[in-house]
Amino acid sequence: MRYYDVIIAGSGLAAYAVARRLSADLKVAIISNKSLDISNSMLAQGGVAAVFSEEDHWKYHDKDTLLAGDGHCDQAAVSYLTQQGPGVVNALISEGMKFDCGTSSGYALGMEGAHSRRRILHAGGDATGKKLTSFLHKNIGENIDQIEFHSVVDLLVENDRCIGINVSGKEGDISSIFGSHVVLATGGCGNLYQCTSNADTANGEGLSLAYYAGAKLADLEFVQFHPTVMASRNHPGRLVSEAVRGEGAVLVTDTGERIMKNIHPLEDLAPRDIVAREVFRRILRGEKIYLSIKYVKEFTKKFPTISAICRGEGVNLSDGLIPVKPGAHFHMGGIMVNGVGQTSLPGLYAVGEAACSGVHGANRLASNSLLEGLVYGRALADFLNEQPITRPIRAFKQSQSAGKRLVRSITIEEIRKLMLTHAGIERSSEKLNMLQRKLKEQIAEVDYRNLIAYTPVDLTFIHQATAAYLIAKSAFERKESRGAHYCTDFPEKKEEWAGMRIIQQINQNSLNGGLGSNEYDKSQKAAGAVFT
Ligand code: SIN
Repeated sequence: MRYYDVIIAGSGLAAYAVARRLSADLKVAIISNKSLDISNSMLAQGGVAAVFSEEDHWKYHDKDTLLAGDGHCDQAAVSYLTQQGPGVVNALISEGMKFDCGTSSGYALGMEGAHSRRRILHAGGDATGKKLTSFLHKNIGENIDQIEFHSVVDLLVENDRCIGINVSGKEGDISSIFGSHVVLATGGCGNLYQCTSNADTANGEGLSLAYYAGAKLADLEFVQFHPTVMASRNHPGRLVSEAVRGEGAVLVTDTGERIMKNIHPLEDLAPRDIVAREVFRRILRGEKIYLSIKYVKEFTKKFPTISAICRGEGVNLSDGLIPVKPGAHFHMGGIMVNGVGQTSLPGLYAVGEAACSGVHGANRLASNSLLEGLVYGRALADFLNEQPITRPIRAFKQSQSAGKRLVRSITIEEIRKLMLTHAGIERSSEKLNMLQRKLKEQIAEVDYRNLIAYTPVDLTFIHQATAAYLIAKSAFERKESRGAHYCTDFPEKKEEWAGMRIIQQINQNSLNGGLGSNEYDKSQKAAGAVFT
């Protein structure tokens, strides 16, 4: 029987922030469904937001985060993030992590949308995610096994506690790994949308795994679209960082009209949801939208990654115009966690984009996600270091893979297309209802108590379709517009929805798997989950 004290599913920044901080006497496994270097963290161009200048204060960072979150953040979680930020970053710097310096002695602090101060640390210009995640991948303790090309297909639950995972290997072989503590750091869900900035590993599987195991999910309707994904035929998902606009780039039409003038006082640096919607509306009207970089000084030096992408896509930088369109970028919702990453299911934890800690509310402030992974990864590891280890004392009985097939009424490509048109930037009740019904029909008969009976190919599909269904369902149920959730039938924020979280949890007592059990939580704090 394979056993670890802590199993971490995922290989991005949050996974390693946890693993590196765990006590060396804990036996840890990091499980990655592809090679370790494929994750959204690796692709992050924007940097780490943290207070690093005399003119700044965590209270300003706090305020900016809350404003961007559109009244839906957990204030305590945000304060923890912004106050702990400089400390975790300084700890990395003292371990040898190098952030870009300015011409004077300090760090070169960048600007991004909805920040009131320059506070974005970068590394390698626009290669921050890659530099930072690669740094965390180095010098891993001998107590940590890194297992590549294994997908988590099922969580093992016994007596209402998560006690391990089932994984599918390269050859489709399924095996069990037991653990005292199981951490889902499986990232986001952008790849459920046809146009995305995300890695193709970001399919929302963590949501589905947690859901079928009985954990609570929250805020799933809030999916952030990035306004400037390169509009190219070859690679539809190449990001053009918001930091480019922070350095003076502006969004224009092909006649040179500036599209963000008169839309928001912060113009091109308005909160991301507002910019993305304007780009989307223009494109829907048949206009072509470009990011004009004419006034960005030393573009290729500051943005080497984007410059290389442009060259690869045949975009001539000397024209000063990069064609852009919005793409799914970040999931604010996720597996509901408390301040130390505990989910509602004992033994199961979540961190990073897979988790919903309440820090991002309805719309994430730029460059707060790498910071969240670092701060909450450390908090979770510190918590786990204090927990008793409960090694399983007997073999767990489980069903064997029976090569069961799922009859499909829809393909994953059709789901990705529908997610973009029906659960994307602008939604309508009619389209959301149609989508959630279609997806529910597809997954209603899934035998979730015996997932490993299905083939690995069907399991991947089941998790993706389930995650898409859960997002569409939450979006259908939120009868207002807030942050990244914009519904044309309810174009305004509504007082009765303020602080209201839609929480989804499977109804384990229902015969058909109980799809559809939703709970609404209007506690004083929008989030503030307490699990013991
Ligand atoms: C970007 O570089 O624009 C993305 C940064 C982020 O999503 O935080």
